[in-house]
Amino acid sequence: MEIDQKREIRFNEETMATVQKIIKRYPEGREKSALIPILHIAQAEFDGWLSPATMDYVASILNIQPIEVYEVASFYSMFNLNPVGKCLIEVCRTSSCWLMGAEDVVRHIEKKLNIHVGETTADGQFTLKTVECLGSCGTAPMMQVGHEYHENLTLEKVDELLNKWKAEGKRSRYC
Ligand code: FES
Repeated sequence: MEIDQKREIRFNEETMATVQKIIKRYPEGREKSALIPILHIAQAEFDGWLSPATMDYVASILNIQPIEVYEVASFYSMFNLNPVGKCLIEVCRTSSCWLMGAEDVVRHIEKKLNIHVGETTADGQFTLKTVECLGSCGTAPMMQVGHEYHENLTLEKVDELLNKWKAEGKRSRYC
């Protein structure tokens, strides 16, 4: 996938005002507490992933070491450390979903999109990820796309969704 290397990593005025408002929620010297919400903002703002340059920028805003940002960003699966497609498909692979066929769902999506887990389609449209429990175990197997949950998945349902998303050029990220 093509990455815009020249893109300036800097929040616009409006976003920076929101970031500063979040930082002010915490006592002086505890600015690091604002890290997770700011990483969410940065990810949404800069193409759906956190590049080293983006993480360094966040560190500079919070006046902390870049390593402190990398540690947090690399711990949570909701942060992407590599470029992602316009539509990020996250399939839960934890116990309930696994027992109910998550592996078949993953294999099916891989075949349909001609990619493996962790990869993005050549047209930059879809990225496939597997993630740990998304708290919807009663409706397993399930997957998340942006803010949407798709539950009680069958291979037919997955086909319907993929066809629909391909036709409409679905976006799961808002940037
Ligand atoms: S195990 Fe998949 S949502 Fe909990």
